[in-house]
Amino acid sequence: MSANNLFKPLNVGKIQVANRIIMAPLTRVRANISNAVPTDIMTTYYQQRASVPGTLLITEATFITERAGGYPGVPGIWSKEQVSAWKNVTRAIHKQKSFVFQQLWALGRVAGPDTLHALGYDLVSASSVPDETKRGQSLAPQDVFGSAPRPLKIEEIKEYVKDYVHAAKNAIEAGFDGVEIHSANGYLLQQFLDEHSNLRTDEYGGSVENRARFVLEVVDAIVKTIGAERVGIRLSPYVDNGGMKHGPGTLEQYAYLLKELEIRGLKPGGRLAYIHTVENTFEAKNSIGEPIIIRRPLEFVRNVWSGVWIRTQKFDRKLALEFVDVDDKLLIGFGKPFIANPDLVHRFKEDLPLNDFDFKTFYANGPKGYIDYPFYN
Ligand SMILES: Cc1cc2nc3c(=O)[nH]c(=O)nc-3n(C[C@H](O)[C@H](O)[C@H](O)COP(=O)(O)O)c2cc1C
Repeated sequence: MSANNLFKPLNVGKIQVANRIIMAPLTRVRANISNAVPTDIMTTYYQQRASVPGTLLITEATFITERAGGYPGVPGIWSKEQVSAWKNVTRAIHKQKSFVFQQLWALGRVAGPDTLHALGYDLVSASSVPDETKRGQSLAPQDVFGSAPRPLKIEEIKEYVKDYVHAAKNAIEAGFDGVEIHSANGYLLQQFLDEHSNLRTDEYGGSVENRARFVLEVVDAIVKTIGAERVGIRLSPYVDNGGMKHGPGTLEQYAYLLKELEIRGLKPGGRLAYIHTVENTFEAKNSIGEPIIIRRPLEFVRNVWSGVWIRTQKFDRKLALEFVDVDDKLLIGFGKPFIANPDLVHRFKEDLPLNDFDFKTFYANGPKGYIDYPFYN
């Protein structure tokens, strides 16, 4: 393999990207608060980040239905108005000759309970286990987090699967190149995967197979509707967001899930576009006192999954160059660097300096810290 895989094309499902740099999903709460419809500044934001042709963007997490939500300002993909507004976004991205997958989101127990109750819905999860880690940081500060959710009934799980399918169909109608199932970062699907938040004793809990049932049902139902090539999935085996607790069972749980996806991938037309992992990293010092990033090994993913793999979390240009050169089906996702650099791909290509991000405007309203980060030239 040559030393510059980062700027070589790769087939990802039905599309061919021109580089291995992915814009990771980034919640920015700029949608219309009353109806979760994307706003015009969102079109500008995505258009800017699609500026290098052939780049794959993943949208911010988008609610599949109203009751799956509970954070104001997050967009949805369940209504006709939402689909129509998303069309502006996908058109703008495609005009730049880039691509976009929509991330599909259901919150489960980490929703803002008051926001949810005001809409007439309950806080739900796999089991009645609250997230005890929320310490007042949220998109909806009026909500009191940490209350116990209600376990979903089996018929409600089936309804959720239908909601995912409806959202995926809408995403395709809105012009997206595919969808990414958000099964990471402590949200509803991961609440079923984690043995600490899922204490069910029916067919959705109690064993590795049962804990993976909901997410695999979602995958299969969406694949049946829009085709595997248009479906990706995000997983975060070792991330503790939303009170997720990895432990000795984590490896077995995720190896099982990945094996099931790989088995499907070996059948004609059954290969998902990609698996996307969020990694667990922490900072340390090396033997001569320089700061380094320790990355929890996720090599087991490659041992099981032979398709396209996106890895995200604390990568920089140098690391990305190194990683993609030893794995020819690897893409690297960037979150915060893409917030601050609308032309990140161009800057990486030319090895130009990056803008710094301003975390105060990550979840603010309006254009500031959103569409006003400068391009290099
Ligand atoms: C402001 C912000 C919003 C995020 N929103 C989402 C999201 O909607 N869906 C998701 O899966 N991850 C989300 N993430 C996580 C990012 O996709 C990414 O994994 C994380 O920023 C680590 O990558 P980085 O080190 O390149 O920033 C968010 C991160 C940030 C900073």
